[in-house]
Parts: sequence; structure tokens; C-alpha cells
Amino acid sequence: MTTVSAEQQARETHLVAQVLRSFESCDNPRLLELVHALTRHLHDFAREVRLSEREWTAAIEFLTAAGHITDDRRQEFILLSDVLGLSMQTIAINNEADGDATEATVFGPFFVDNSPAIEVGGDISRGAVGEPCWVDGTVTDNAGKPLAGARIEVWEADADGFYDVQYDDERSAARAHLFTDAEGRYAFWALTPTPYPIPHDGPVGRLLAATGRSPMRASHLHFMVTAPEKRTLVTHIFVRGDELLGSDAVFGVKESLIKDFGLQTPGTPTPDGRDLTGQAWSRVRFDIVLADAARAPSSTSVARTP
Ligand code: BEZ
Ligand code: FE
Repeated sequence: MTTVSAEQQARETHLVAQVLRSFESCDNPRLLELVHALTRHLHDFAREVRLSEREWTAAIEFLTAAGHITDDRRQEFILLSDVLGLSMQTIAINNEADGDATEATVFGPFFVDNSPAIEVGGDISRGAVGEPCWVDGTVTDNAGKPLAGARIEVWEADADGFYDVQYDDERSAARAHLFTDAEGRYAFWALTPTPYPIPHDGPVGRLLAATGRSPMRASHLHFMVTAPEKRTLVTHIFVRGDELLGSDAVFGVKESLIKDFGLQTPGTPTPDGRDLTGQAWSRVRFDIVLADAARAPSSTSVARTP
């Protein structure tokens, strides 16, 4: 660690105090708290690592490149937040543990509004390649009461590792929404999840490569579940036994979300009598518990602008 003279330390702390004071006419207490903490942590960071001017320039160039590659379909800043674990930290802070409520995980860039509707027992794959997978379970509240009519959005990559929106055509596949029945039950056909890399052809990919990290995500199936007066749940389920569980590029894996995807040999009768013409398939059960909406934090008005 570099030793810094008393005079040098005084200059550096004086600057921090000056910047903190510059915000004193801010009349939004939450914004003030945010900019003060940001200033303190940024300066602490620069001083701790003794940031060189070259490194500062490289950081600016990195952020500029992230801006240039960002458009309506690609959001490199969220990807950066994801690979730094900031997205998962924010999710942890905002989805406090509440009894048996199902844990949340990262949203990811591939959700699309207005997905097709399917009936309970329908098929989300609609032409996407992959091994069929039967998914079923219930949606209940924390007291075990079934939630009828809960909306379940599901989406996933195909067996080639791509979401529909990553293809150049206008296809919509491997995504849908459905509603739980009167007993809070749901079921659908999907694809057995397979691993795929996060978009890594930009600055975030270069950061991962430079630091010896893999861009791969553990195999998963995305869910977003909503019901009146319940906290919206954004989550995935992961495949027990997947070797990427311990090194997911965005730190999304939680033990409670790892599920047994039972492999069924060709010819095994399917739950709904569907004829899979001798194909292997898998099945998984995922019982979802929604927390009360009242558990959502209300004080963090980050979206409030000056
Ligand atoms: C995904 O799971 O779809 C995803 C999540 C974070 C970053 C990139 C992809
Ligand atoms: Fe994903």
C-alpha cells in the first residue's frame, strides 16, 4: 500500500469535503444522501487504489464504448451492473426475505412485453429447438393460500443458446404467459434449459476476458409472476447438476432456485398424453410463493429527479 504524506492526505480530504459541500443547496434529502455517498465512495476508491491518470482515461473510454454500443435492444450499462453483481445486490436489498416467499433473481435483457397467451398445459416453445420439458407447480401466498389467476410470464433461450429476439427475423418463440387455475395450479411445456453466454462482443465482454471470467450463464428458465396485492416476483429456476451453477456470469444462482429436472427416457408417458414421437423429455416442479406487496421497500425513491 502506498504511503501518503500528511500534507498530501490533507489535500485529498479537503477536495472530498469541497465536493460534499457543493451539494448543500439540494433540497431533496434522498438525492442528497445518494450523491454524498457516491462522492465518498468514488473518492475512497480512487484514493485506495491510487488511480493513475491513464487508468482514469481507460475507465472513461470503457464507459464511452458502453454508451456507443447501447441502443433500444442492447443495454451495456445494465450488463455491466449484472457482471459486477450490482444488479443482484439491488435485487437482494429490494426483495427482503419474507417467510417462504420465492427468491428473486436478475431480470436479464430478453423479456418482451405482449408475449403470446397459452392455456394451462400449453406449449411456450412454438418452434424453438430443444428438448421438451414439462413444468408444473402452484402459486400461493405466504400462508399457503392458492392464488387463482396469477399471471406467469416465462421465457428462455433455445437449445442453440439464443432468445428469439437475438435472431434477425421477427420470430416469437420460447416465451408466453398463462394464468393459474382456480386452485392456483399451472403447467406448461417448455424446453429443458441449456447454458448460453451473455452478450460478450462489447466492452463488458472485454472486461470479462481481461479478468479471466467466463460470460456463460448457468442453464435457466425465466419467470415473472404477478398477482393483486402481491410483490411481483422476477426469478429463474436452474438445473441441478449444471456445472455452471457455481460460476454464473451475473451471480443469479440461489440454492433455493436450483431444481431437479428429471430426465425421462423416450417413450415415457407424458403427463397430458402428448405424443413426443420417441423423444426424451424432462420434467420439473416449481411451487411459487409470493410475498405481500407491503413488503416492497417504499423509501428508496431513486427515480425521483431533481
Ligand atoms: C439472461 O438471463 O437472460 C441474462 C441476464 C443478465 C445478463 C444477460 C442475460
Ligand atoms: Fe436468460
